[in-house]
Amino acid sequence: MHVPHSLRSGEELRTALAGLLDGLPPRQAAQAVDRLIANYRGLTPTDAPVLRDRSDVAAYAAYRMPATFEAVRSALAAFRDRLPSFTPASHVDVGGGTGAATWAVASAWEGEDRETTVLDWAAPALALGAELAGEASDPALRAARWERGIIGDGLKVPEGTDLVTVSYVLKELTDAARAAIVEEAARTAQAVVIVEPGTPDGYLRIIEARDRLIAAGFRVVAPCPHSAACPIEPGTDWCHFSARVSRSSLHRQVKGGSLAYEDEKFSYVAAVRGDVPQDAPARIVRKPQIRKGQVLLELCTAEDGLTRETVTKRHGGAYKAARDAAWGDEWPPAGV
Ligand SMILES: C[S@@+](CC[C@H](N)C(=O)[O-])C[C@H]1O[C@@H](n2cnc3c(N)ncnc32)[C@H](O)[C@@H]1O
Repeated sequence: MHVPHSLRSGEELRTALAGLLDGLPPRQAAQAVDRLIANYRGLTPTDAPVLRDRSDVAAYAAYRMPATFEAVRSALAAFRDRLPSFTPASHVDVGGGTGAATWAVASAWEGEDRETTVLDWAAPALALGAELAGEASDPALRAARWERGIIGDGLKVPEGTDLVTVSYVLKELTDAARAAIVEEAARTAQAVVIVEPGTPDGYLRIIEARDRLIAAGFRVVAPCPHSAACPIEPGTDWCHFSARVSRSSLHRQVKGGSLAYEDEKFSYVAAVRGDVPQDAPARIVRKPQIRKGQVLLELCTAEDGLTRETVTKRHGGAYKAARDAAWGDEWPPAGV
């Protein structure tokens, strides 16, 4: 059976992660996760890496990486849908840690020739990331370079990089470092994809980065169908999406509970230098509400900002499409 590339790397990542805590007694694995959570709690930004040793990074990879991978994968899928002609020949994953976004890029674009560099200040994260990537079938992932670099200390993104990802990193940076890395990405890259937790403050960091990218001549590809100001009234709501993360038995063991999946909430912006195709369809910005004979959609539109649309049985094909539509999808889908 042919397994689509995008699914293959997700599977491979799960397999690579499953081997991670092998041999570590479950109680010790849980303790490593507890320590990691305690280190992250309230500690932003930090002036030294939180991921200090192998057990920190193994806990991070087991506890968080499947979720950050799925969030980035979802953002990249939206980006690809809008701009199918773009294929990055080079990728730099800033604050890449154990490589979640790098795996997501490998799942979005199969590319033997893509040059990949992961930059992070935490050497143990890079070492584990390289180990995990060594188990991938994607040649670009296996050949990735894992390099130390400190954001906020004049970190340079190599000239001519096609794609820069910054995934779940902005929260850990000072205001100055946050501005500096987005500006550095905008200076060199053709495309920038930034992902943050789907919280009110994560959304604000995305909006701040989005403004900087637009000021540097970028145009938004996703999720917004426009590059004008975000229509959300500050403080009233936040734009975020949800990615389903299936839990492996290791994930269940580390996180506790028996649910087969969880939903990772994230905010993101994907932008490219120069123009994007006009007439972008709206984006569904809330979980569609399915009622008897009708579906209520909350949309962000290019012309009218936030709107609501009720699609009923009378709309025929559109009704069926609305019933199948998911939070984060474009609306209407092609062909409807
Ligand atoms: C929450 S982790 C995210 C890792 C990965 N991008 C992901 O999506 O799973 C944050 C990463 O940012 C890195 N980081 C934080 N501050 C940094 C800095 N000033 N310079 C370089 N890396 C930094 C951390 O070491 C860590 O790997």
